Amino acid sequence: MTEQHATPVHRHEYQVPPYRVDSLELEFSLDEEETLVKSRLHICRNDGINPHEPLHLFGESMELLELSLDGKALRLGDYLLKSDGLSIALVPAQFTLEITTRLQPQLNTQLEGLYKSGGMFCTQCEAEGFRRITYFPDRPDVMSRYTTTVIADKARYPVLLSNGNPVERGDYDDGRHWVRWEDPFPKPSYLFALVAGDLACRRDTYVTTSGREVTLEIYTEHENIDKTAHAMASLKRSMRWDEEAYGLEYDLDIYMIVAVGDFNMGAMENKGLNIFNTQYVLASPDTATDTDFENVEAVIGHEYFHNWTGNRVTCRDWFQLSLKEGLTVFREQQFSAAMGSAAVKRINDVRILRNHQFPEDAGPMAHPVRPDSYIEINNFYTATVYNKGAEVIRMYHTLLGEAGFRRGVDLYFQRHDGQAVTCDDFLAAMADANNVDLSQFSLWYSQAGTPKLRVRDEYDPATQTYTLHVSQSCPPTPGQSEKKPFHLPLTVGLVDTDGKDLPLQLDGESHALDTAHRVLEIREAEQSFRFVNIPKRPRPSLLRGFSAPVELDYPYTAEDLAFLFAHDSDPFNRWEAGQRLMSDLLLEWTAKGIGKLPQPLLKAIQETLAHKALDAAFIAEAITPPTEAYLAEQMQTIDPLGIHASREALRQQLAQGLAKQWLSLYQELASDNTAYRPDGDGAGKRRLKNVALGYLSCLHSESEQTRCLEQFRQATNMTDQLAALALLADTEGEVADVALREFYERWQREPLVVDKWFRVQAMSKRSDALDRVVALIEHPAFELRNPNKVRALIGAFCQANPARFHAPDGQGYRFLADNIIALDGINPQIAARLAAPLSRWRRYDSKRQEQMKLELERILKTQKLSNDVHEIVSKSLAN
Ligand code: TRP
Ligand code: ZN
Repeated sequence: MTEQHATPVHRHEYQVPPYRVDSLELEFSLDEEETLVKSRLHICRNDGINPHEPLHLFGESMELLELSLDGKALRLGDYLLKSDGLSIALVPAQFTLEITTRLQPQLNTQLEGLYKSGGMFCTQCEAEGFRRITYFPDRPDVMSRYTTTVIADKARYPVLLSNGNPVERGDYDDGRHWVRWEDPFPKPSYLFALVAGDLACRRDTYVTTSGREVTLEIYTEHENIDKTAHAMASLKRSMRWDEEAYGLEYDLDIYMIVAVGDFNMGAMENKGLNIFNTQYVLASPDTATDTDFENVEAVIGHEYFHNWTGNRVTCRDWFQLSLKEGLTVFREQQFSAAMGSAAVKRINDVRILRNHQFPEDAGPMAHPVRPDSYIEINNFYTATVYNKGAEVIRMYHTLLGEAGFRRGVDLYFQRHDGQAVTCDDFLAAMADANNVDLSQFSLWYSQAGTPKLRVRDEYDPATQTYTLHVSQSCPPTPGQSEKKPFHLPLTVGLVDTDGKDLPLQLDGESHALDTAHRVLEIREAEQSFRFVNIPKRPRPSLLRGFSAPVELDYPYTAEDLAFLFAHDSDPFNRWEAGQRLMSDLLLEWTAKGIGKLPQPLLKAIQETLAHKALDAAFIAEAITPPTEAYLAEQMQTIDPLGIHASREALRQQLAQGLAKQWLSLYQELASDNTAYRPDGDGAGKRRLKNVALGYLSCLHSESEQTRCLEQFRQATNMTDQLAALALLADTEGEVADVALREFYERWQREPLVVDKWFRVQAMSKRSDALDRVVALIEHPAFELRNPNKVRALIGAFCQANPARFHAPDGQGYRFLADNIIALDGINPQIAARLAAPLSRWRRYDSKRQEQMKLELERILKTQKLSNDVHEIVSKSLAN
């Protein structure tokens, strides 16, 4: 017998909601055994809707206790109750519906709806969690004004929070108390939030440009409140930046952030009451790395920016998710670039895109930025929607320029403030504000797959002209065999033999523009661009700043790449040239056997190290070989062990070839005794120092191991300590265990540091990494119920340790399938996310394909498999 699984929802089936809820009053009575939720909905039929249209309210996983319409109790027969909601066949044009439901948040392990984390109650309603709290038209185009009363025991839950402003509070004489919150802004149900607990608060104020004072509050468990200073400073910087860059001010009198330890994603932008994974709030130098500090700032920014791009203007339906997520990721990227090194930020963002989104776009789950159908919406919070979505926004910015982009955003808010809209509405605002035709550009929303851009060139010394021939194509993806050409910006520079950018004058133009590079608009399958007054054959610097999310094919020679690596004025392309130089070599070694490091590459790395004008963070990126994930993407049939061996061999030869340089660089940076500050400069230097330490430990000498152990033991901050621990954990001897034991003993009471301890072991290069990971599943600190723990151990091993995960005996695959099955009964959303590495089975050799496929089939045969996992696994096997 086959089980019944949910059927897909299609974008084209969208219908306007027949009824709206103008306002509602919610009352929560929170208790240990059960929670009662009373809801009073003020409902109206929308214009033009047939009076016989039934009212449908979504609702799942709760008990309906009472239901009344305009004060009259409804009985079964008056309404229809099903496992996914309730319908009332005949309702008046305007009425009040009262609903009482009973929940058991203490048993909610899915972390959707109302649940308990540690001792506190909290909610997660995006995308469809509100329907686990009460019966409601839980869809983002129904926007309502909320008044929420929270009642709970005063001793255990002294802090009671919800969206908006607190308007009234009081005590009952049975030890309970209550607080009433009013949110003046109509919002979709996915932005509802509630928190109750014994929490500490860091309070501050912010004065907006127009002079309004806003109270800022960050809530955590008491022991963590001293780790919130960086989050608070980041919040203020975000608020200032949005005023300066977009003219957008905060709109309520209070902005609250609550950190919770059990959370499915990074954070949630609930109106006025953001809920965050502790990982993206808490940061102190001894427990958080420089990267953690950066991530806190980025995620605080992201959620704050949602207040306008997501909350004030929201999505009409979940197919439009990238409307808010792509735009908000882009805004966060701009913000982070402005706060630190723009070049390094761009490098890291492109690395995320290539390591996560490109494989997704080339696999069985490939979908457009605006998907056409889904079975479980939680499976579509993807790198495509978020990161490729952000690249699409960036392309508007590149095509229209900074001022044109801002005109488009201004018009978007002017037209749509307070509305639930579509990606087409955003595109129309961009087009109308700039008087341009963006109809072809809309293909970025509808066509999946990573386009390939093939560029060839010719130089004619007789006429001193240089021509770029550009052609584009896009591989087929599930359900889309033919693709039309995209409209995209190709930013180029032409570099002369001195490394200078040439003035760029296209044939037919009267003079060269006074810019180092220019944006070529690509619209056709094949297009040519002829530059005039080019005295000598230049080297093209193509796709500067990674101007479009495409795969570029240009036949660069190793000499070209070494030259651009030394001279390109565009920092992204300078880094890119070095990466290409190394990846060409590594792919050749993987295919034909490991050889000797070419002298020009060694020299290029050496010169980069010695380059005084470059900052430390950039150098650290430039001298690090491309990731194994990136290399894998370049191969027709992925050879994970071959890639790993080649990359290690390159690191080894660079370590030996430049041993003296690594040592002096390390010593110079390690002797810097200035106090720890998590700023760009300090972080960059630590990064470079730890890259140098990494090369030194490739020498595998006892003295280098001692050096690592010394840094590990003497480090005064988590960045240095963890970097050394990771290197020690890669070594085969006993020192690894000594260091890991010391680290655990010291940090076992800090859950976020224990996550790092799991992650370092999951990512270890040791040959016994899988055995250790399997053993760690039984460790008392590991919890399958905690998503951070799952990501740190199982996620990191399967996604970031390809050489061990893809062990030829298939044990890595079995381990993953076992855990997906175990987790599916607890938290299907997280279980489904874990399945990504198995879904890419077709990219491997036939033996691995067979092994991975068997595990996917085993998962599919599991009784009571969730829709979440079922969707991913069945699509993986089908496509
Ligand atoms: N909107 C959130 C963000 O991008 C994403 C999110 C947080 C989420 N928690 C979730 C999505 C749970 C789905 C389920 O910031
Ligand atoms: Zn978001």
